[in-house]
Amino acid sequence: MEAHFQDWLSLVVRWIHFITGVAWIGASFYFNWLENHLERQHKPDHIAGDLWAVHGGGFYYLKKFQVAPERLPEPLHWFKWEAYGTWLSGIALLTIVYYFNARAFMIDPAVADLSEATAIAIGLGSLLLSWLVYDLLCRSPLARHGVWLALIIFAYFTLLAWGLSQWLSGRAAFIHVGAAVGTVMVANVFRVIIPAQKELVDAVAQRRPPDATKGKHALLRSRHNNYFTLPVLFIMISSHYPMTYGHTRQWLLLAAIAAIGVGVRHYFNIRHLPQARQWILPAAIIALLGLAAATLPRAPEAVATEDKAAIQSAEVMPVIKQRCSVCHSAEPSFAGFPAAPAGVTLDSVDDLEVNAAQVYQAVANKTMPLGNLTEMSEQERQLLLRWYQGLQQE
Ligand code: HEC
Repeated sequence: MEAHFQDWLSLVVRWIHFITGVAWIGASFYFNWLENHLERQHKPDHIAGDLWAVHGGGFYYLKKFQVAPERLPEPLHWFKWEAYGTWLSGIALLTIVYYFNARAFMIDPAVADLSEATAIAIGLGSLLLSWLVYDLLCRSPLARHGVWLALIIFAYFTLLAWGLSQWLSGRAAFIHVGAAVGTVMVANVFRVIIPAQKELVDAVAQRRPPDATKGKHALLRSRHNNYFTLPVLFIMISSHYPMTYGHTRQWLLLAAIAAIGVGVRHYFNIRHLPQARQWILPAAIIALLGLAAATLPRAPEAVATEDKAAIQSAEVMPVIKQRCSVCHSAEPSFAGFPAAPAGVTLDSVDDLEVNAAQVYQAVANKTMPLGNLTEMSEQERQLLLRWYQGLQQE
């Protein structure tokens, strides 16, 4: 019963996280689009640009001020709760899915045999560490060299992905890199961007020029947030794709996918400008195809001659029953699993054959059994791989 309610809690919180995330990133994409599409020619001095748009059955006319209007307008709309809501619901989701089930979702005994408390401490520590490192980098003299700063931030997160993959399951490593980047993004809003906007508003109210350095810092952080979006969105969906987080060099794969995401974001940022780079999108597609090819699971090692006979599905069924069906059953016996995870049931030979390709993937990538909770041995893994090889040759 407890597991059932935990599943419902996870559903509701994930839903909220998804909604607030859409609202946040949607607003961020929209303002970015606005900035890129303002008509800037022949405007009065105090106007930076304006534009017309039609949406939802009406015309909209938007103006951006060069600095600020004469008087503080009322009401003035802020955009910050989307960001805070995304982070709060994200941390809640991390806790429900990963920290309540650390043994299953965070610990991979083949990677490091940690205690639950250690795994959680590493996870939470990585969020705090990332903000401290990132904030320090942005406040250092490096901040004057935008591209170098960006490369070093990218290198830091790649290093984090590598480090986490030495301690946690691939899946937990990925989600913590995502949570770390998300934490940096929200902290940017909370600690730098919103304070800069408050300064701007105060300056207008007090009829004095605003402190320009605050604005400059906010612009840098806001740029970074813009480039973080696509990598972070990938990480949010990565848990559906064991071929990514289950790869032996998952940290490198993550860096490659993140780089593609940054590239695509860049394409959309500059596509209206004279320096637009048309080759970015085709290059991104080719790079993704390349990654798909490079991560193709290798066929199991050639089998010794005396073992050549194909292994029948019925022969591997005892292993499946013992190592998998405790969770993957119409009625799972494993505590904490009210229903067959991911809808995959492995109760019968038929079930096994229907799901053969997925079972092979999961066993070859070692993403299953989850956290190796059922202690599958290397021999049993080899047996399943040979079974699948036999199926392919039939
Ligand atoms: C302790 C419970 C548990 C055991 C034991 C277990 N699994 Fe899973 N399995 C899960 C969970 C949880 C998911 C869903 C992961 C997610 O949220 O995407 C899953 C997902 C899957 C999927 C769907 C695709 C994927 O990899 O996410 C396959 C296939 C799978 N398991 C196969 C197996 C096989 C084969 C075994 C035995 C070798 C096994 N599982 C053992 C819990 C378990």
